[in-house]
Amino acid sequence: MRERAALPDWTGRRVLVVGDLILDHFVRGSVRRISPEAPVPVVEVEDEHLALGGAANVANNIKALGGTPLLVGVVGRDRAGEDFRQLLRFAGLETSGLLEAAGRRTSLKTRVIAHHQQVVRVDREVRDPVGASTAAALRRLLAERAAACDAVVASDYAKGLFSPGLLRHLGATCADAGVPYVVDPKPVHFPYPGATVVTPNRGEAAGLYGRAFSTGEAEAVGRALLQRTDWRAVLFTLGDEGMFLCPRRGKAVRIAAQVREVFDVTGAGDTVVAALALGLAAGASLERSSRIANAAAGVVVGKVGTAVCTPRELARALRAGG
Ligand SMILES: Nc1ncnc2c1ncn2[C@@H]1O[C@H](COP(=O)(O)OP(=O)(O)OP(=O)(O)O)[C@@H](O)[C@H]1O
Ligand SMILES: [Mg+2]
Repeated sequence: MRERAALPDWTGRRVLVVGDLILDHFVRGSVRRISPEAPVPVVEVEDEHLALGGAANVANNIKALGGTPLLVGVVGRDRAGEDFRQLLRFAGLETSGLLEAAGRRTSLKTRVIAHHQQVVRVDREVRDPVGASTAAALRRLLAERAAACDAVVASDYAKGLFSPGLLRHLGATCADAGVPYVVDPKPVHFPYPGATVVTPNRGEAAGLYGRAFSTGEAEAVGRALLQRTDWRAVLFTLGDEGMFLCPRRGKAVRIAAQVREVFDVTGAGDTVVAALALGLAAGASLERSSRIANAAAGVVVGKVGTAVCTPRELARALRAGG
């Protein structure tokens, strides 16, 4: 029991996180009346703030867990891009992996929330592939940095950063360097060659497989996906049903969700890949790393907003649930 509860020592382990970067903008206020202009509520703004989203939230989670993230991604040469860079600095995250693409806008998602309810979300983004010179710079950066890390995460939000070519390059780079490579996928970029483990949620898994499936079918679906790919394992994240780990070699395992009270499930998937990558970076097995990731996700869904988990909270959750 004690051994199961012990956290691998991943302090300072370097994890390269490459993916689509998003700036989250939260606008909070209250509603007292309906607009005279249209049948919509008038939100009187009381507070607004910016937060790191997309792959940057994975980096944030790695930092909170005690690892050393290196974030690689693309922002535009715009106000949101400047805000993004400044937020990284405030969070104590490395900014040297940020590439700026002129003529591209930084993904910005504004959520208007009144009385704890989202009223509307306003997205400003381009999802076109990044330009050729940015793509070439990305490849150079990844080739240079991936081998110097203890694990790599691809955090795909399908906003134009990843292309089949870049994913081939990344998979081959990680395989050559013998670095564990964790992918949070989107079906459009199947098959993510060279991945150590791919972590689709229910919707993504249905997209990868071709149709929705029940939890009882997870093992058969996992085997089918492994047959179509060179992945070492697939880890389905099943929301309140926890996880299902299907390794190429060895038995599949169901991991029950571990949470006392659910407050906000936003960002749980980011916490999963962060903890999973750190576990693998520290040499823990896939199953052990998955169990740790499940416990870390349980901690963040018990918090309000896009949250992170500290090593202390994680150790406590592991002691409580093994
Ligand atoms: N309602 C819940 N109750 C308990 N645990 C949960 C719940 N929702 C999520 N989790 C935990 O978080 C993990 C990831 O959640 P989920 O499968 O919803 O990923 P996701 O859809 O990628 O999340 P997101 O995209 O919002 O970050 C689950 O495997 C589980 O461990
Ligand atoms: Mg997700």
